[in-house]
Amino acid sequence: MRLLVLGGTHFLGRHVVTSALERGHDVATFTRGVSGEPPEGARALHGDRDDPDALPAALDGWAPELVVDTSCQSRPAATNAAAVLADVAGYAFVSSLNAYRTWPPGPIGPEDDEPTWETDEDEYGQNKAAAERILGEALGDRFLTARAGLIIGPHDPLYRLGWWLDRIARGGLVVVPAHLDQPIAVVDARDLADWLVAMAEQGQGGAVNATGPAGMTTLGGLLDVCREVTDGDAEWVPIPDTELLAAGVQEWVHLPLWLADETARTAWDVDTSRARELGLPSRPVRDSVADTWAWMQDSGRPEPRPGRPLPGLPPELEDQLLAG
Ligand SMILES: NC(=O)c1ccc[n+]([C@@H]2O[C@H](COP(=O)([O-])OP(=O)(O)OC[C@H]3O[C@@H](n4cnc5c(N)ncnc54)[C@H](OP(=O)(O)O)[C@@H]3O)[C@@H](O)[C@H]2O)c1
Repeated sequence: MRLLVLGGTHFLGRHVVTSALERGHDVATFTRGVSGEPPEGARALHGDRDDPDALPAALDGWAPELVVDTSCQSRPAATNAAAVLADVAGYAFVSSLNAYRTWPPGPIGPEDDEPTWETDEDEYGQNKAAAERILGEALGDRFLTARAGLIIGPHDPLYRLGWWLDRIARGGLVVVPAHLDQPIAVVDARDLADWLVAMAEQGQGGAVNATGPAGMTTLGGLLDVCREVTDGDAEWVPIPDTELLAAGVQEWVHLPLWLADETARTAWDVDTSRARELGLPSRPVRDSVADTWAWMQDSGRPEPRPGRPLPGLPPELEDQLLAG
């Protein structure tokens, strides 16, 4: 079928394109064309989805039958897509757990029991929730919104898992949070991508918490896998949350994937029963980490952008923490 990917050149969208091509679809991507091109085999259409005229002009008679939307970050982007694509047979949208008013810190129960944002702020979660409503009204039960949790895998430009892999590969004493038993859940971009395409094909509707099963691993388990995969000699130096926070270590930013323990205990407690019922796979964490590391050997590292430094522990802060 003619499958349009809104997005498709970075990370999740790139895997969606690959999956859709493998499943025999005629695939087009729609992006501004500023951050690269999609995988070979897809037709690359260009335009800014915040501009109401851009998508109709780019489609130019090529009528999508299915849509996977990985790039929506604004209300106009949703309104413009709804105006042009409301007749497709299936529309799978990538939202976020941030669409929930109560996440973080969570916990998050079954999708229909949890409130999503209904305010006008131009913020990430609020925009995702508004976009879900705009597109949901236009498409009805042919609209599926995947409220994604932490996505990992090859082509990840965010350098969260990537930072840990690099730091652990360098070896020596590595600052880690003392609560290594705190839970964490991830979804591999390739699993999510395959599943999004399948959901669009089936015209499946509704909201789905799209992440790995609660309790699938711990932060310590994930870091141990990073050490195995990089074959390093890193030695953990566990530091309590109170000391990390007092030293100015920012959760998620300086120690990527770390949340202070109290938040972590609920934030990763997400009901994914519906995702499991609908067949969202969850490959072994080791496979995701090993494949990410293999990809990093070939791809170099993301460049920090103005106002968007890469995550990771600044060396001077690391020295200070290791000195005790
Ligand atoms: N990473 C996570 O852990 C996580 C967690 C929860 C949810 N999510 C969501 O998952 C999705 C995955 O993003 P991704 O980066 O992996 O997807 P992607 O589709 O691989 O990359 C984003 C695409 O959006 C395009 N784009 C950006 N602004 C645009 C605009 N104004 N008009 C048209 N195209 C535009 C970019 O191309 P150009 O720059 O060339 O336009 C790029 O192709 C996002 O919606 C994100 O909010 C991610």
